[in-house]
Amino acid sequence: MSLDAGIAAALLNWYDYHARILPWREDATPYRVWVSEIMLQQTRVEAVKPYYDRFMKELPTVADLAAVEDDKLMKLWEGLGYYNRARNLKFAANQVMEEYEGRIPGNYEALLGLKGIGEYTAGAIGSIAFGLPVAAVDGNVLRVITRITGDERDILKQSTKKDITKDLLEIIPKERAGDFNQALMELGAMVCIPNGAPKCEACPWDTICRAYKEDLTEKIPVKMPKKKRKIEKKTIFLLEYQDKIAIRKRQAEGLLAGLWEFPNKEGIFSIEKMEHQLKEWQVEHFKLETTKKAKHIFSHIEWHMAGFYIQCQEKPQQEGLIWISREEMEEAYAIPSAFSSFKAVL
Ligand code: ADE
Repeated sequence: MSLDAGIAAALLNWYDYHARILPWREDATPYRVWVSEIMLQQTRVEAVKPYYDRFMKELPTVADLAAVEDDKLMKLWEGLGYYNRARNLKFAANQVMEEYEGRIPGNYEALLGLKGIGEYTAGAIGSIAFGLPVAAVDGNVLRVITRITGDERDILKQSTKKDITKDLLEIIPKERAGDFNQALMELGAMVCIPNGAPKCEACPWDTICRAYKEDLTEKIPVKMPKKKRKIEKKTIFLLEYQDKIAIRKRQAEGLLAGLWEFPNKEGIFSIEKMEHQLKEWQVEHFKLETTKKAKHIFSHIEWHMAGFYIQCQEKPQQEGLIWISREEMEEAYAIPSAFSSFKAVL
């Protein structure tokens, strides 16, 4: 079902009164919008804000981002998760320096050619920073539009997204494309919310919304159930020797690639198995404590973790470890949030 061209004005009017004041909306340069959209890809607005301000202070231009050291970049991103977003951002900053003389291109196709920028992000940057009349369709926008039109198709299907993008293109106001796209996002975040009942009394589209009129807001958006996540069990070793803690670098590919972690092994270790392991590492004298268990959920995998805090009298003989002080851990090494409850033990 296509959209009625007249509905854009009601949404923009609502946005003019209800838009949140957000740092990337204040001074919507291409660079600032780009960084905000990458941070917001998998992270909530409230969680992003402090990271965003700090990032902009440290790396105020594309050139700064292109030249930043990887460890510093990871430290700025520490806690936001999905670290490939940051790596791609730096890679794309170098593309901008080399291919576009340091200026982010104001062209949809060229934006799509930058690493880490897909259709949604190209649409968001193109419309918000450059005023291009392009759509920016993410899960929030799909929820809003399928509810408005009473569309019961699966929103995870590419064909649904493609059709909705096409319908939106026909009604995007040419002179306020960025505001229109942000208004849809805002409606999705504040009114037509993802979890819990939508606040339909506060919606500028309450009189035209099919889902509201026909009591379908619980049914729409329709999403096919996702595949179950794979569960990986691990034991985390918090090894301390002469006031230093052991960490190691993860491999260059895959989950949390290239980041630092506490040494760990597959499976949940018993105390006996742990003691045996310490012997193998040539540690005979130690103080051993079990830590609280922890769970971390990634998009396709869950880690279920147990841990031991082990103060060692002899240095554990294990390849690939580096030994750092607690201060260095705070200041120089990015340890992903998956390990945060273990880091807190130290
Ligand atoms: N989510 C993604 N982009 C956003 C934006 N520009 N404003 C608010 N929420 C967003």
